[in-house]
Amino acid sequence: MSTSMTPFPVIRREISGLPIDAIVQQFGTPCYVYDMATIRQKVADLRAFDLIRYAQKACSNIAILDRLRRLGVVVDAVSAGEVQRALSAGYGPEGIVYTADVFDREALAMVKKLGLHVNCGSPDMIEQLGSVAPGSSVTLRVNPGFGHGHSQKTNTGGPQSKHGIWHEDIDRCLRLADLHNIVIDGLHMHIGSGTDLEHLSQVCEALERVAKQIGRTITTISAGGGLPVPYRAGQGYVDLAKYFQLWDQTRKRLEKDFQHPINLEIEPGRYLVAESGFLIAEIRAVKNMGENRFYLLDAGFNDLARPILYGAYHPISIFHRGPIPKAEALFDTVVGGPLCESGDIFTQEEGGFVAKRQLPPANVGDFLILEVAGAYGFVMSSNYNGRFRAPELLIEDGQVHCIRARESYEDLIRGEKIPPAPVA
Ligand code: LLP
Repeated sequence: MSTSMTPFPVIRREISGLPIDAIVQQFGTPCYVYDMATIRQKVADLRAFDLIRYAQKACSNIAILDRLRRLGVVVDAVSAGEVQRALSAGYGPEGIVYTADVFDREALAMVKKLGLHVNCGSPDMIEQLGSVAPGSSVTLRVNPGFGHGHSQKTNTGGPQSKHGIWHEDIDRCLRLADLHNIVIDGLHMHIGSGTDLEHLSQVCEALERVAKQIGRTITTISAGGGLPVPYRAGQGYVDLAKYFQLWDQTRKRLEKDFQHPINLEIEPGRYLVAESGFLIAEIRAVKNMGENRFYLLDAGFNDLARPILYGAYHPISIFHRGPIPKAEALFDTVVGGPLCESGDIFTQEEGGFVAKRQLPPANVGDFLILEVAGAYGFVMSSNYNGRFRAPELLIEDGQVHCIRARESYEDLIRGEKIPPAPVA
């Protein structure tokens, strides 16, 4: 890992050149803001790969998908809903791969109807696809027997993971494929989110082994997702040139063996969108509890669940509406949300232990910005405690576009119905 040259500032005045108070004045808080310039840069970083397939689960707003499509990025979908999102964003079936460990009935019907390519994460999927679409070709997501992630919950390899086809099950898959007239034309490995170069090189070796076992039908290999981004000062990026080189060498060895070209795909979610995203909230209470100072916001884990789920660390900055304090005046602070639940704390470690963050003094009415929130932020938000999901905004070429409106009370109760009262 190289060291990040950009420390995270604790005082922030603008996002992509636009003053934060102007954004809030127009759209209110809490709100998610994405900066398109960052997303464009991230796509450019990965151009060495033949194909960039965006794992839309990270941030699936159709405006983001549309922009990525225009940049030549294709998508994966993990559900019928994500397939429909991709279609709404202008993708044709050829730009979408269904990649999951199960087909629910809706997804299988959609795959059949659109003729989507499938990346199978379970042997059962080969049979199920064969029964509705014999003659299809599929890629296999293989669990190489080991994994790595930023948290135990994002480790997707090894015997404790439900993801992928166990590496010793390949023969069985080949037999199933034969039986159902299915061709295995590609391989995919994704061992976890937030992994490192060392683990990734083991993945390349494992993938090569399995590819040789399957043989010359293989025409695509996918590096999966998992590319980390820095969330803390001092953390760095994976050396992308080295990362590409590892995969490229694997591809070239397979090309030599098979005597035909092999496409090299990458499937990032977080890397493309995490750093583009900011969750802006307003500080609504400042209080001391014994020795601890709390800032309580109008955003909670219903808006950004990563801290309560994984003890994830997000950089935090403050926009002061009044005079700006000296940058060096920092105090230990706990940051929490409005929810009626003691775990609603943004500064916590895995296991739920409350942590403190060195932050500048701030008052009620100042804004607090949770940064690097573009991936697995809005998409994991909920209506818990009767809260409306926040709007999503896209900054592009100096303009702010609302790409998803703040929810209303009507959204909150959509589909709910009170049945006739029981007869007494
Ligand atoms: N491909 C597959 C098959 C995946 O399962 C995932 C993530 C990705 C690609 C994209 O991984 P990325 O490049 O974004 O790391 N909610 C968690 C992350 C869960 C990731 C699930 N699968 C978080 O907030 O960290």
